[in-house]
Amino acid sequence: MKTVGIIGANGVVGRTLQAEFKKIKTPFEVKLFGRQDEIPQLDAAVFCTDNPDSARLYEQLKDRIGYIVDMSAQFRQEPNVPLVIPEINPHAITQQTRLIASPNCTTTGLVMTMAPLRQFYHLTEVFFCSYQAISGGGKKLLEEFHTAGSLYENNCVPLIGSIQENGYSSEELKGIYETRKILEMPHVKVYPHTVRVAVENAHSLGVTLKAEQDFDLATVIKAWNSFPHLRYSEEIVTPKQSSGQETTFACRLRRDVEDKNIIHYFITFDNLLKGAAMNARQIIELLLEKYL
Ligand SMILES: NC(=O)c1ccc[n+]([C@@H]2O[C@H](COP(=O)([O-])OP(=O)(O)OC[C@H]3O[C@@H](n4cnc5c(N)ncnc54)[C@H](OP(=O)(O)O)[C@@H]3O)[C@@H](O)[C@H]2O)c1
Repeated sequence: MKTVGIIGANGVVGRTLQAEFKKIKTPFEVKLFGRQDEIPQLDAAVFCTDNPDSARLYEQLKDRIGYIVDMSAQFRQEPNVPLVIPEINPHAITQQTRLIASPNCTTTGLVMTMAPLRQFYHLTEVFFCSYQAISGGGKKLLEEFHTAGSLYENNCVPLIGSIQENGYSSEELKGIYETRKILEMPHVKVYPHTVRVAVENAHSLGVTLKAEQDFDLATVIKAWNSFPHLRYSEEIVTPKQSSGQETTFACRLRRDVEDKNIIHYFITFDNLLKGAAMNARQIIELLLEKYL
């Protein structure tokens, strides 16, 4: 039987992945590893660790683990490392692939709503403002959020990650470059603005999307509802409702008051599920079915 490890099993994503792995039908053995544990040979492993830990672990373990799925941003922009959302670009994994990156949670929700529209419209520009949950910052941020006097208590904080030389936050740059890589649209313009809000779990985004053609709202809704794990709701959907769900929800769709080739909408999805652990589980399912 194949063995699949969860490395960083005690973090927020690692714990969620433990529950996700129970949904996998193909029999396999799960092994859990924390910071102090010795890691043996494994058929596959998911690194649920931050960038520097993932970089170190990769160097230590690359010859001992058949396939590595990394949740951090460390390898996402490396040209030979596929950045995979199984509903969108499973074809990015090939026989030669040994390391797979799972995308940023905010980008995942965004591209889930852009991917199904590509067959109808040539998408050219997207603006989004995010309302990102505390759980997206891992267990330390959750602890801080529950500490009296936290900056995040009853607040919204317009900085996620660190400010870069060009003034963008690191989270915003992920939104640009990961969107282009996953959708294989190197020229799509992305205008991101990322904000942490006092919501414990499930991210939301307000999105404005521009195409070369005029949008037809019925076509957009049909395309969304035909896509796996994506639903359009005529009623508003909030993060309280999307938390714990596998579905990415879109609502409030409308055409721009002046330009028919622009639409505006709101999305909400569970950052720990589709934005992280569910996506990793789907990648492992794919590996178990096709490659392992
Ligand atoms: N949270 C989200 O919504 C989300 C979404 C998408 C992607 N991600 C990414 O997923 C990764 C994990 O995020 P998280 O939110 O789960 O963070 P987290 O709650 O801080 O968990 C990270 C875990 O990794 C463990 N760890 C660190 N170095 C290790 C090592 N050498 N061996 C084994 N375990 C080690 C830590 O152990 P200690 O407890 O000992 O420190 C901690 O339990 C990050 O790269 C993050 O950017 C997160």
